Amino acid sequence: MAKDVALITGASSGLGAEFARQLARAGKDVVLVARRADRLEALRAEIERAGGARCHVIAKDLGRLEAAEELHAETTKLGCDVDWLVNNAGFGTNGRFVDLPLAKEREEILLNVYCLVALSRLYLPAMVARGRGTVVNLGSVGSFVPTPYMATYSATKAFVLSFSEALATELAGTGVGVLALCPGATKTEFQEVAGVSEKVPESTYMTAEAVVTQAIEAAKAGRRTLVPGWMNKTLVVTTRMTPRSVLARIAGSMFAPKAA
Ligand SMILES: NC(=O)c1ccc[n+]([C@@H]2O[C@H](COP(=O)([O-])OP(=O)(O)OC[C@H]3O[C@@H](n4cnc5c(N)ncnc54)[C@H](OP(=O)(O)O)[C@@H]3O)[C@@H](O)[C@H]2O)c1
Repeated sequence: MAKDVALITGASSGLGAEFARQLARAGKDVVLVARRADRLEALRAEIERAGGARCHVIAKDLGRLEAAEELHAETTKLGCDVDWLVNNAGFGTNGRFVDLPLAKEREEILLNVYCLVALSRLYLPAMVARGRGTVVNLGSVGSFVPTPYMATYSATKAFVLSFSEALATELAGTGVGVLALCPGATKTEFQEVAGVSEKVPESTYMTAEAVVTQAIEAAKAGRRTLVPGWMNKTLVVTTRMTPRSVLARIAGSMFAPKAA
């Protein structure tokens, strides 16, 4: 595998799997990364059956300090020139912050923030040297809203938005683009993993397919931020006109644990 490839973290389900399908359909070879090797192998078979793209699977826990450097070393050994980096792997924790296990909060920060920063730092120099490349970083509408009972999660996503916008400006004129993708509720395994499935109104969900189609178009058009869907866009515009203390109270009422 010695040609331009898209590296997608968190490709074993949801948005990551959909990025892999759509980028492969667009003719890119893909490297799929997540912990669940069986899911990645199934997706590899599906993509290769569909024809055209080649697929490489790397099963790895990215919620560890050394993970990004290990992954970069492995793709370098494979001879991959990564020209699309989709920093998608992530998860959320829900509950009273004072009750949440610290180890899980640390893993959330390592994955949602540190891994994304480290992979950007490791893959961007080659993109800049080649004068082309695309980085897609997964934020959230939570990037715009301090969210009680998902305090660490929304803070990680605020970091992603700020980091991505700053980086996009630094890289202007290099041929390398950075898109902060900030979806609202999207039908994936995210809500189940976070334990918030029953807290998100069914009518607000977008499909992963729609989110990813819009994201790829936006990245190709050189956009720096995308909030997909009119409902999410309206929400984000509203956040700009609302005091953050009020926003936090509204978000908190949505994600508060049920009284025992
Ligand atoms: N769905 C939504 O409503 C929504 C809204 C806004 C933003 N987002 C963001 O979108 C991104 C993708 O989430 P999703 O909605 O597609 O959720 P998902 O279906 O739960 O997918 C999350 C992916 O991250 C991977 N992952 C989790 N922990 C990992 C670890 N330690 N090491 C490597 N990979 C890991 C999972 O794979 P393994 O379990 O196999 O490792 C899975 O492939 C996340 O960053 C999320 O915060 C989602």
